[in-house]
Amino acid sequence: MRFFLGTLRRTVAVGAAAVAALALTATAAVADDPTPRPGVVGGTAAQQGEFPWMVRLSMGCGGSLYTQQIVLTAAHCVNGSGANTSITATAGVADLSSSQAIKVKSTQVIQAPGYNGSGKDWALIKLAKPVNLPTLKTADTPAYNNGTFTIAGWGADREGGAQQRQLLKATVPFVDDAACQQAYGNLIPDEEICAGYLTQGGVDTCQGDSGGPMFRKDGAGAWIQVGIVSWGQGCARPQYPGVYTEVSTFAADIKSAAASLGG
Ligand code: ARG
Repeated sequence: MRFFLGTLRRTVAVGAAAVAALALTATAAVADDPTPRPGVVGGTAAQQGEFPWMVRLSMGCGGSLYTQQIVLTAAHCVNGSGANTSITATAGVADLSSSQAIKVKSTQVIQAPGYNGSGKDWALIKLAKPVNLPTLKTADTPAYNNGTFTIAGWGADREGGAQQRQLLKATVPFVDDAACQQAYGNLIPDEEICAGYLTQGGVDTCQGDSGGPMFRKDGAGAWIQVGIVSWGQGCARPQYPGVYTEVSTFAADIKSAAASLGG
């Protein structure tokens, strides 16, 4: 079980073919549907500018602007730490094909120290230059690890589905550690936070959404990031909520890693 889920966690890094191969209940897309189908399972299209700190990464992951020059993403989306000019971040657009897209290359990556495929699923990517866009605040206490969360991404809109051109959003309720542990057996409760409709399923992040933020409003009505898309068994299945990196647990580590990248 642990090996299987660990494999699922890393599917995005190995590309679309492997993602498709791992899709356990893939449904064929309607061949001539002219409507661009947005990503995330059970979502709707996000508006241009609605989540201005959302970033798409060229290896097929999501991310969020931690600063104007640092993207917060998942550890399983990157290969390790060090100089890295191979990643392109696309920012400032809901439609990835928009002529307004801002594309910036990476210069350095920090993968969570001690990351070994379980837990600690965070990483920072430094961009070659700052982008003039709003950043997303990250939770540094557990105060917001409850309630209803928003998820967004350009990943698959169903298990085995294609990556999406249009950013999709959805909301999912918090699932407590006991219920999530009951579903998976290998949750790391201090490092992971779960969300989804436990009984019905139907709404979730999916392959290609990894690294993107799960967020909610804080006490002042501002968006705050509480999770990073990490893993799940399939997508949107009843009894299998989405598992997210618990951002508040790693807030201090993320902050010092960002400082080491020069902010
Ligand atoms: N590991 C996947 C990725 O790399 C994310 C899967 C999220 N799955 C879920 N059921 N919430 O894109």
